[in-house]
Amino acid sequence: MDSNEVNKIAGAILGTLTLAMGIGFFSSALVAPKAMQKAGYELPDNTAAGGGQGAAPAAAAAEEPIAKRLASADVGKGEAAAKKCASCHQFVKDGKNGQGPALWGVVANAKGAKAGFNYSAALKERAGKGEKWDYEALDAFIKNPKGYISGTSMGFAGVARPDERANIIAYLRSLADQPAPLPQ
Ligand code: HEC
Repeated sequence: MDSNEVNKIAGAILGTLTLAMGIGFFSSALVAPKAMQKAGYELPDNTAAGGGQGAAPAAAAAEEPIAKRLASADVGKGEAAAKKCASCHQFVKDGKNGQGPALWGVVANAKGAKAGFNYSAALKERAGKGEKWDYEALDAFIKNPKGYISGTSMGFAGVARPDERANIIAYLRSLADQPAPLPQ
């Protein structure tokens, strides 16, 4: 093979490579791949009114007023349900404040009244207005503590079931030398 032939072959290889590169540049300019802006898929937004999955259930069953629920409440079941409060609250007479204030005698008592407990500013404000823990207030607070007193330091999600709350409140009512009268 003389050098002329070698040059031809080298030239052919070089030419092919250049052509391939050229095609690469050219085609990526034609079909420029677009980088994804956000990972994942766009999900349809179901939160808007008009139903569909994920829409709020139409009008949750109306709750009976606490006065009515108390009439059929069960103190024993309330005591059992109140175990979920016991990590923060004591229920015995002369109980000590823990993470939450002692709860003996809380029904019908003034809000934020346990001596020595450092209540949140939000609860102190309600106490300052002279509010009491009547049955409606307890029911609302135990259902959704932060919904009833935004800014409360009671870190508890709440008890959703209306009958369970009534049982707990009936139990709380029993924790007194003279239980408060039942609502009429
Ligand atoms: C994670 C701890 C925690 C749990 C669990 C908890 N609480 Fe509380 N609770 C608190 C704290 C803290 C406060 C004081 C709130 C404030 O100052 O805003 C409080 C306040 C209260 C008060 C107001 C007392 C007063 O002296 O004004 C009531 C009533 C009450 N809790 C009932 C309950 C009941 C009933 C349960 C269970 C169903 C429960 N709590 C579960 C921490 C807790």
